[in-house]
Amino acid sequence: MLKNIKGTHDILPSEVAYWQKMEQVFRSTPQKFGYQEIRTPIIESTDLFVRGVGEGTDVVGKEMYIFNDKGNDSITLRPELTAPVARAILQYNMLRSYPTCRLWYYGSCFRYEQPQLGRQRQFHQIGAECLGSQFPESDAEIIILANTILRNCEVPAFTLNINSIGTIEERQVYRKVLTEYLNDNSDTLSEDSRKRMSSNPLRTLDSKEPQDKAVVESAPNILDYLGAESSDRFSLIQELLRASEIDFTINPRLVRGLDYYSHTVFEFRTDLLGSQDALGGGGRYDDLFASLGSSTPTPGVGFGLGVERLILLAKKLSETNSSDPNAPYYSPVDTVIVSSPEYVKSVYQVATKLRSKGISVLTDIQQRGFKAQFRDAEKVHAKVAIIIGESEVEKNVLTIKNLILREQVEVNAQDGALLQIVQYIIRG
Ligand code: HAM
Repeated sequence: MLKNIKGTHDILPSEVAYWQKMEQVFRSTPQKFGYQEIRTPIIESTDLFVRGVGEGTDVVGKEMYIFNDKGNDSITLRPELTAPVARAILQYNMLRSYPTCRLWYYGSCFRYEQPQLGRQRQFHQIGAECLGSQFPESDAEIIILANTILRNCEVPAFTLNINSIGTIEERQVYRKVLTEYLNDNSDTLSEDSRKRMSSNPLRTLDSKEPQDKAVVESAPNILDYLGAESSDRFSLIQELLRASEIDFTINPRLVRGLDYYSHTVFEFRTDLLGSQDALGGGGRYDDLFASLGSSTPTPGVGFGLGVERLILLAKKLSETNSSDPNAPYYSPVDTVIVSSPEYVKSVYQVATKLRSKGISVLTDIQQRGFKAQFRDAEKVHAKVAIIIGESEVEKNVLTIKNLILREQVEVNAQDGALLQIVQYIIRG
């Protein structure tokens, strides 16, 4: 039997309601902060992510879906959306008429990772990017927006970790101190962390290996290496989060896995999903545009939240787990038209009229008898059945049956009473 590809997930009709509920939040919340939606292609040139996300990162180094197309261009299925959004901003010169640009997005991302609960090869992100402001107010705004989306999605018990990794210069000094410290303690470190020590020592602070815990906990604190300006901007962000009634923890070991960050980094976490505990994260990326070839410095800050993880939590919360793949695939409708195959044209005429007025209508597509069609009416919770049978056609009428009160009336097939009565019954 053909099956979906490992690490991808079919969202069956029984599960779609969770997605639609969240998608409503995604559409309405960023707009309340003045963010506009942007949709970029799923495929981009490989170079965009190599330059934007960084060759040394796990995402670019190990996880990208890369292929050569028929023109022999190297194409990548996007592993994230920050680099594509930055590319679009540059390509369309979106900052030309106004100094800041606030954008949100929702879409699929692809990473070749080992699938497990909360980790897939195709997953979805809702995210936002605020471009053009180097001020900490924009960092706070982005964190508040992400926090509001999580709250509006009714995500239970999440925590927010924030940190500042300073400027490139500050990080260079810290990197040196940290590398020395790690070298001194390399005997006790895991193999993974020993490898990272030279390529990306800051990432050892992210290690989840129990073996690394003690060394990581006593590592030099990056916040001690920030200059006054960086410390002040980090303090203002904290004040603005407090003013917005947002709880957070300062976590000096939070560095995140993508190369483009500077200053603020943050992550939303949960205890309810095991090892895939990051619901989303983000940070400031003032050097990303330069790495994409822009000569104008363009500061930016943003976040991405993993939608599958939000859905897993929503399902955990829901008392009736309705994501049974064997659940029947019926969508509720207002009205069914019960008829026989010889009157199918009239059925389609009446259905068209009602649907054009916003009434949902189910018609039989299997040439079955009245009994089966009335059974369908029950399954789809219809309030009205319109009957077009032999006697109706002879009299040039339609029978409208109120399925709740079990009453019926006949109306002239041509006059407007049909619509009024159906609407009246549906509204209850
Ligand atoms: P990221 O931390 O790589 O950041 O991904 C954000 C979120 O996407 C993660 O916290 C997680 O919830 C979800 N996620 C990542 N990989 C997977 C996966 N394999 N399966 C399921 N969910 C996953 C970024 O992507 C940045 N672009 C965020 C950002 C925006 N930074 C600044 N602006």
